[in-house]
Amino acid sequence: MLVDGKPYRTIWPHPEDDGIVQIIDQRKLPFAFVIEDLTSVSDVATAIRDMHVRGAGLIGATAGWGMVFAEKEAGGDADRLRELGDELIATRPTAINLRWAVERQLAAIEKGIPARETAMTIADEDAEACRQIGLHGLPLIEGIAATKPGKPVNILTHCNAGWLAFVDHGSATAPIYAAHDAGIPVHVWVDETRPRNQGARLTAWELGQHGVPHTVIADNVGGHLMQHGQVDLVITGTDRTTHTGDVANKIGTYLKALAANDNGVPFYVALPSSTFDWETKDGVRDIPIEQRGGEEVREMEGVDEEGRVATVRILPEQSDAANFAFDVTPARLVTGLITERGVCDASEEGVKGLFPERL
Ligand code: MRU
Repeated sequence: MLVDGKPYRTIWPHPEDDGIVQIIDQRKLPFAFVIEDLTSVSDVATAIRDMHVRGAGLIGATAGWGMVFAEKEAGGDADRLRELGDELIATRPTAINLRWAVERQLAAIEKGIPARETAMTIADEDAEACRQIGLHGLPLIEGIAATKPGKPVNILTHCNAGWLAFVDHGSATAPIYAAHDAGIPVHVWVDETRPRNQGARLTAWELGQHGVPHTVIADNVGGHLMQHGQVDLVITGTDRTTHTGDVANKIGTYLKALAANDNGVPFYVALPSSTFDWETKDGVRDIPIEQRGGEEVREMEGVDEEGRVATVRILPEQSDAANFAFDVTPARLVTGLITERGVCDASEEGVKGLFPERL
């Protein structure tokens, strides 16, 4: 996608030094656009854990590059390679692309395929899957547009499942970009997404870079908008979706799904197949939910009138804060899954229809 008119992916090998992979440090957006060099497994683990990179597909692609460093650092010792892979997997427990990418690399390395080659393939496949998600999701937006000629289709999204969360295009945003590029008027309600504000900071920034009309709303606004006919469609991403259709996504997604269900608003989840959990059946009970430090709730970062970035405390000093990073929306509240192979029901039968070789 374009940043100030220049095309970028979210991760790429350094053009002159094959010991470096480069990322956009997403902790700094939207206040600064900073490119960071990663050169070791430890750099990659820190970048994933501390969210220099984040989002399902990008975590997977970054772990793929982490295994390139792991291959070098292990020096042919298979046990050490596995250990380094496990260190990467431990950095974020809910996002399943992480484990998927590490396991894929371990299997490929065992077959003699260089980790660098697989890292490139993982990134390319991620970008292509998101492009396909855009093509498959576009008819949903076209269908709604046809019912309200001349008026924008209002789409609500939560967190950032945009190109910043993948290698390119994004999952939830791919149909939106496809519709906007096709000349269909769209307007996006962007949930701010406390505590880390990925909606306000990242989704708003990338939609703005692409010229997509959008409005940032506080996290609690969606239900009200749905009651008043201001939301035609919800599209979110996911960090892990069971093959039975239960969707783990950024905390607060479940509440949006409940409100959508109560108001007859279609609620779609967009994902590449690398985000499916092919083993877990009951997502609410069995998907591990990451808990992060209370400081993310206690503090907020922003920019003052002089352009200085500052962090401030927003809670009484003595108050404890809990920080559950994800929740699980049961399949019954999900209208459909938009994948690189098409749209299906959020059910085992629906997923099996598109991915028969996996089930
Ligand atoms: O904690 P994050 O920022 O890595 O969470 C990921 C997300 O941005 C969302 O949950 C997103 O909707 C799914 S990732 C495509």
